[in-house]
Amino acid sequence: MSPDASDPRCRPMPAHHGLPAEPYDLDAVREDFPILKRLVHERPGRLGKPLVYLDNAASAQKPRPVIEAMTRCMELEYSNVHRGVHYLSQQTTDAYEAVRDKVQTLLNAPSRENIVFTRNATEAFNLVASTWGRTFLGPGDEIVVSVLEHHANIVPWQLLQTENGFAIKVIPCDDRGVLDLDAYAALLGPKTKLVSVTHGSNVLGTVPPAAEIVRIAHARGIPVMLDGSQAVPHMPVDVQALDADFYVFTGHKLYGPTGIGVLYGRKELLASMPPYQGGGDMIASVSFNGTTYREPPYRFEAGTPPIIEGIGLGAAIDYVQTLGLANIGAHEHTLLEYASVRLAAIEGVRLIGTAPGKAAIVSFVIEGIHPHDIGMLADQMGVALRVGRHCAEPLMERFGLEATCRASFGLYNTIAEAEALVDAVQSVKEFFR
Ligand code: ALA
Repeated sequence: MSPDASDPRCRPMPAHHGLPAEPYDLDAVREDFPILKRLVHERPGRLGKPLVYLDNAASAQKPRPVIEAMTRCMELEYSNVHRGVHYLSQQTTDAYEAVRDKVQTLLNAPSRENIVFTRNATEAFNLVASTWGRTFLGPGDEIVVSVLEHHANIVPWQLLQTENGFAIKVIPCDDRGVLDLDAYAALLGPKTKLVSVTHGSNVLGTVPPAAEIVRIAHARGIPVMLDGSQAVPHMPVDVQALDADFYVFTGHKLYGPTGIGVLYGRKELLASMPPYQGGGDMIASVSFNGTTYREPPYRFEAGTPPIIEGIGLGAAIDYVQTLGLANIGAHEHTLLEYASVRLAAIEGVRLIGTAPGKAAIVSFVIEGIHPHDIGMLADQMGVALRVGRHCAEPLMERFGLEATCRASFGLYNTIAEAEALVDAVQSVKEFFR
C-alpha cells in the first residue's frame, strides 16, 4: 500500500521558513535508504503509517551502498582474511584492511596501526578496561568519568574495580547538561590514572569540550579516552587535534552494520597493553612452552574478524564522507533547532538537556504523561522515538527522572519529520486531556 496523502514525509517545506538551505540533496539521500519508504503498523484493511525514524542515536538506517557492499562481499568477494594464499582470501584481506585505512582517514589518526576493530563501542571500552586497566590500575588509583556517560563507559570500569580496587570519580553537570570543568580539574590529582568521558551524550546531546578536557588532563600527565559513539556520525572528528589517547565509536550508528566498532589508541599505549582475547590471528608464535603475540592492532583482534561488517563500515564511511560530516552536522542542527523551539512551546513539555552547541538529540518529558505512553502513542502515528533510561541511569538520577522520550536526528531526516514529531506530541497531549 502506498502512504496516504497526509504522509508527513511528503509535506512541502513551510514557505518562508527562514531555515538554512539543506547542504545536500536530501531527496536524493533519502532515496538511498530503502527502509525510509516503508510503512509501519500496516495490516490487512488498514493503511500503514509512513515511518518517521527518529531513533538514530540508538541505531541508524543503512544506505544502499552499505547494503550492496555487504551483499557483493558475500556473493562474490568473500573468504576468510589474513590466512589464505588463494585469490579470494587475498582480495578479501585487501578489502578488509582498506577499511582500516578509511577509519584512519575518518579520524585523522597518525597511522593505520592505531585502529583496532572491535564488535562495537562497548567492546572497545571492555578491551581497554581489561587490558590497559587491568595492567595499570590498582588500589589507591583513580579514574575520572562524567555523569553524562553511557553504561558502556561505567560498567566495564566497575567490573574491573572489584578486582583492582581503584576509585571512580564523577564530573558533575549543570541543569543544562554542561559539564563542570572547574569540578573536573579539581578531581584530578596524583592518583588519577585515566579520564574517560563522552564526546556526545546519547541522552542530552551535550558535546563536551573534548580538546579542553584532554588539555587539562595532559597538563597533569593523565591520558584521556573519549566515547565518540554519538560524535563520529554527526561531526568531523580529528583525534590528533583532540590529542585523544583512546577514542571509540561504533559502526551501526554511522549508517554501517552492527557487529563492528573501532578503538583508536595511541601507539605507545596500545603497545603497552597485553592481549584482550586469545586465539588465532593475534599470535606471533604458539607452543606449549609459551606463546608470543603480534604487534597492535592485530594483538587485539583474536579469531575471524567481522569481515562483512567491516566491508559495510567502509562503505558507510565513504557515504558520510561524500556528503561531508560538517554538512551532516549542519543539516541535523537545523532540525534540532526547529524541533527544540517547537516542542518547548508546547505547554507541559520540558526539554532535558539544553547545552549550547549540542548535537541533534532532543530528550523531553511531558508533565503528567509517562514517557512510555508517549513513545507508544507516537509509534502508532509512525514516529519512532526511544523512551526509557537510555543506558544512562546515573544521568537520569542526576535529573531526578525515571525516563525521558528521546528524538534523535540523522542525516536523512527532514523538517517535515520534525514537524511530525511536534504533531505527535500535541496529539498525545490531546489524548490524555
Ligand atoms: N546507546 C544507544 C542509545 O543511546 C543504544 O540508544
